[in-house]
Amino acid sequence: MTTTTSAPGKVYLFGEHAVVYGEPAVPCAIERRARVTVTARDDDRVRVSADDLSLDGFTVEYGSGSDAQPDVDVPTPLIEAAMGYVEEALGQARDAADRPEAGFDVEIESEIPLGAGLGSSAAVVVAGIDAATRELGVDLAPEDVSERAYRVEHEVQDGQASRADTFCSAMGGAVRVEGDDCRVIDAPDLPFVVGYDGASHDTGELVAGVRGLRDEYDFAADTVEAVGDLVREGERALADDDLETLGRLMDFNHGLLAALGVSSRSLDDLVWTARDGGALGAKLTGAGGGGCIVALDEGDGVETALSLSPACEQSFRAALATEGVRVE
Ligand code: PMV
Repeated sequence: MTTTTSAPGKVYLFGEHAVVYGEPAVPCAIERRARVTVTARDDDRVRVSADDLSLDGFTVEYGSGSDAQPDVDVPTPLIEAAMGYVEEALGQARDAADRPEAGFDVEIESEIPLGAGLGSSAAVVVAGIDAATRELGVDLAPEDVSERAYRVEHEVQDGQASRADTFCSAMGGAVRVEGDDCRVIDAPDLPFVVGYDGASHDTGELVAGVRGLRDEYDFAADTVEAVGDLVREGERALADDDLETLGRLMDFNHGLLAALGVSSRSLDDLVWTARDGGALGAKLTGAGGGGCIVALDEGDGVETALSLSPACEQSFRAALATEGVRVE
């Protein structure tokens, strides 16, 4: 048998980084998906091939216990990062089905740039766990997939992960995450436009940087708390469908993230390009450092402005993905 499952990426409307310290965050799933096709094998080997992970594609084959050896020449740190998530996801599927020796062929196709703030790893992990458990005859509820995916991110990111990405990808829609309290919330289809600078970031490193600042300076800790206040304000604006306030708060959130040292020249450039193009608001999304920004724009001014910017490798409109993980 073969099972294909997909799961969406996400943008952060508000609250990344602060969510790691128990403040609320509101990520929204977007219609850019990772598709994972899994076939259970008769032996205990694993073969993983991937396309479109912002790489030229790669194939990795290995048996249990031996190290993954990429058989094509592509950037090794990115492959190692991707393989860490995939291997842990398969481990969760083996655990859920109580089949510790199960082997798999895995094909990954993703429309989500890797390490760019759109939740690529969470989407691959969520879809991978779902497809692999189904292959072993177990159907998990999306909440259970989300819980297991969180354990994977927590493990691979050395304990520095919130539940935001994995819950959002598994459930779809707009979600609110505060510590262990995760829920889907009502939201209109917000007019998101994403700008991508072509770079990738190391989430763990950026999270560690914020942690260091927060430990060193009370005003950095206050900044993290201010993000929490802003998110609570944002939730009210979301409930009222008040796009103007949402935009203003996104601008504010970007400023606070910049103060915490996680913006970059190119992300600031994209944010200002979006504002010049008429955005209601714009901010970086995800860990920062490089990758993507998200703007709100009901017209086409922002997309046009971004497409003309030399700092922008790709820009696109991103509809809210109301469905989370699903069998294709
Ligand atoms: O850049 P991403 O998609 O890995 O998002 C990271 C979001 C953080 O809040 C910085 C970390 C987390 O686990 O929530």
